[in-house]
Amino acid sequence: MKKPILPPLDYQPRPYHGPSAEEVLKLRKEYLNPGIFLYYKTPIMFVEGKGQYIFDDKGHRYLDGLGGIVTISVGHCHPHVVAAAQQQNEILQHSTTLYLHPNITQFAEKLASKLPGDLKVCYFVNSGSEANDLALLMARAYTGNFDMIALRNAYHGGNSSGMGLTAQSTWKYNVPHSFGVHHAIAPYPYRGPYGYEDADAGRKYADDVKNLIDYATPGKIAGFIAESIQGVGGFVEFPENYLKRTYEHVRAAGGVCIADEVQTGFGRTGTHFWGFETHDVIPDIVTMAKGIGNGAPLAAVVTTPKIAQSLVGKVHFNTFGGNPVVSAIGKAVIEVIENENLQENSLKIGARIRDGLEKLKTKYPIIGDVRGKGLMLGIEMVKDRQTKEPAKAECAQVLENAREMGLLIGKGGLWGQTIRFAPPMCINQADADFVIDVFDAAFAAL
Ligand SMILES: Cc1ncc(COP(=O)(O)O)c(C=O)c1O
Repeated sequence: MKKPILPPLDYQPRPYHGPSAEEVLKLRKEYLNPGIFLYYKTPIMFVEGKGQYIFDDKGHRYLDGLGGIVTISVGHCHPHVVAAAQQQNEILQHSTTLYLHPNITQFAEKLASKLPGDLKVCYFVNSGSEANDLALLMARAYTGNFDMIALRNAYHGGNSSGMGLTAQSTWKYNVPHSFGVHHAIAPYPYRGPYGYEDADAGRKYADDVKNLIDYATPGKIAGFIAESIQGVGGFVEFPENYLKRTYEHVRAAGGVCIADEVQTGFGRTGTHFWGFETHDVIPDIVTMAKGIGNGAPLAAVVTTPKIAQSLVGKVHFNTFGGNPVVSAIGKAVIEVIENENLQENSLKIGARIRDGLEKLKTKYPIIGDVRGKGLMLGIEMVKDRQTKEPAKAECAQVLENAREMGLLIGKGGLWGQTIRFAPPMCINQADADFVIDVFDAAFAAL
């Protein structure tokens, strides 16, 4: 098998003269949170990025197939985004929502123009966890109900309400954080009770939400939250009609429906700008982060004027939310997605890669499932296709093998058994072919 070669790039990273990776690792061990983890047996240090590529301290180039955990949406250091940030940085870095500023309002108008229905009132915060915390508050304030339904295998954040909504033991500390949150069965066709072959799986999984409402709550709920494709959970796609049926059950119980678009938003799924649109539903509240800012600390909650009214009367305030610099960045990101047709690119390039992955599945029995939409693709690895025993160590080895060849990828799922591929949406056909060659070689080398 020939060694995959990264497509050519007419760009030279600048020489790096900062501290070495070894020195940085030493400082990190001494001064940073010991609970965070590093990918790779020999950790990499990245110091520069350009488009879909990223460079380490030695000047080696990699195709960034994880995009800083599904965050680099339009490409590293996109000139339009950099210019918007620089321009604003030079004239006013911060004011506050106590005063008027054009950027936050213009960004809100632009963002609202991308959302369907009556979803138009924007709240800006700094992270996905904060966005979900606010959405939870909104659901409870609006409905007057307390109980929430979330899904097993979900990830919604690391603060206490995000952790409460999350349902994977990896991310849950042993402290009280889940009051009023009930977790329904994950609509996970590959591992759940209703598989891909069951045409009625969507209804059956949705019935579990109804069952949970009837048995575990007072019958009235504040709401339901779900990612449109479970991200940290290993890019799990829900069966057809699942969200539609579930939204009906939730609304019948007085609840609102929250779509967590932190990973699936901004065109990544290819056919639509938002992941929920692929399920033909309109939520009452949408939360977003990551790709919205292409790396800037920016997140948002968007809801209807009616629901927004429920937070009037008290002040909901966020010091940095929608600050002039991040608002300029957020607006520029949407402009790039539009001007460079990145949603369409996600569809086209995503289909090409998915097709290649499906072929690899026929070649390597360790690939149990290939799934995902657009440029959000997962490969679930199993030791045995019958037992579906998670191939955790092998998955980690595929990451190492791919890294050796210049491709960064991620992993997810409860056992770290699913490869996650979610690059900047500007990758091209040559990159796609490189990615497939790397996966082929990485699986062959196992
Ligand atoms: C779906 C989803 N929601 C919420 C979050 C939390 O976002 P943040 O890390 O910005 O707080 C994440 C982070 O990975 C996520 O994937």
